[in-house]
Amino acid sequence: MSIHTPKIQKKVTVNTISKLKGVEPIVMVTAYDALFASIFDGEVEMILVGDSLNMSFLGEKDTLSATLDQMIYHTKAVCNGAKSPLIILDMPFGTYTDAKIALINATRVYKECCADAIKIEGGKERADIVKHLTDNGIAVVSHIGLMPQFVRAEGGYRVRGKTKEDRQRLIEDAKAVEEAGAFALIIEGVVTEVAKEITQSVSIPTIGIGAGNSTDGQVLVWSDMLGFFTEFKPKFVKRYLEGASLVKEALSNYKNEVKSRTFPTNEHTYK
Ligand code: KIV
Repeated sequence: MSIHTPKIQKKVTVNTISKLKGVEPIVMVTAYDALFASIFDGEVEMILVGDSLNMSFLGEKDTLSATLDQMIYHTKAVCNGAKSPLIILDMPFGTYTDAKIALINATRVYKECCADAIKIEGGKERADIVKHLTDNGIAVVSHIGLMPQFVRAEGGYRVRGKTKEDRQRLIEDAKAVEEAGAFALIIEGVVTEVAKEITQSVSIPTIGIGAGNSTDGQVLVWSDMLGFFTEFKPKFVKRYLEGASLVKEALSNYKNEVKSRTFPTNEHTYK
């Protein structure tokens, strides 16, 4: 069954997002450029310029080498393409190692591009950083659970919340960043029941990725959900398009027509 929801006309703000908790599921997707951002414009409440671009755009094996220059460059492109969604810049690894450094870098983000908010990975252990940022006028989305920037330190990508201790730890993380002023919380790679409990424990909206269907919203990486990234498919990804196959088929048609001189025809030729 396909349900058609109306286009979002007005600019989505932090306040819009806060008001959606418990009212309507929030839709978030990543984007890295103006072209795709313009296609997503009006369809989603939030666009995350995720450091996942380091993998799907640059072809690196993880997100760790992404730089702030890169993130600002891509956020500028997304801002040029999308007018209504709230746009969030993902602070790359090493740019928020303490509160002072985080504020210098987040201030640079606000001055150099139109990001509405920034995202940082971490719970209780980074609540002081979230507080310093929000105290100084930066809107923050926190990210807990599986945290890709810490994959090397943690020895791999592991689903979280499987033990009683970890469940407790995640709930404490969520409460700590809420208290520190984060206006939304991404929960990644967490067992469904724990993600549900976190969602019920905080008053800020939770956005899940690989965290089941009880969070206040969902986020997917655009190149995963549209089937352009095909090297592997995590369990939580649903492909809404077979992008890579469709592009390959179109390219093959183009190639055949060029080789056989059936393109261009009169229709595509100046007289
Ligand atoms: O970088 C990214 O795209 C993200 C999402 C997976 C939440 O952090």
